[in-house]
Amino acid sequence: MKPEWQVWAKEAKEEFPRANSALMPLLHRIQLEEGWLSDATIADVAQLMGLPVQYVESVVSFYSLFHQQPVGKKVVHVCVGLSCALAGSDELMHHLEQRLGIKEGQTTADGAYTLLEAECLAACDKAPVAQVNLRFVGPISPEDATQLLSEEVPS
Ligand code: FES
Repeated sequence: MKPEWQVWAKEAKEEFPRANSALMPLLHRIQLEEGWLSDATIADVAQLMGLPVQYVESVVSFYSLFHQQPVGKKVVHVCVGLSCALAGSDELMHHLEQRLGIKEGQTTADGAYTLLEAECLAACDKAPVAQVNLRFVGPISPEDATQLLSEEVPS
């Protein structure tokens, strides 16, 4: 556990007095620094917040923006929910796999991109939808996706 995590946990608890409310901001802050949340980190966070490890793990695994393994600088989520599947998310995913030279769930050798599936990203009216880090794009064609990969996006 890094010493600053105790300070961050204290700050999160001051802002959100309930531990399960303070949990998400703390996880987010640690992931910004570490890039992902390992099992050891999850256990440390559980200890800091006085929560069961299983609870913290369930929160981390539920949200697609938390990562339990190292990821690339740009994390590309392709929505595979029903609306997006009907609108061509399979084709979009296949195009991105070809373009990046990786399969879904993998990271490029240079650490630049990770390609992941996501369940409904809550933007069904824009299907098919992709998310690159915090940026949503949709409807997105395979050609648009190629352009998107070259653009700067916020972490
Ligand atoms: S199914 Fe893709 S955003 Fe809802």
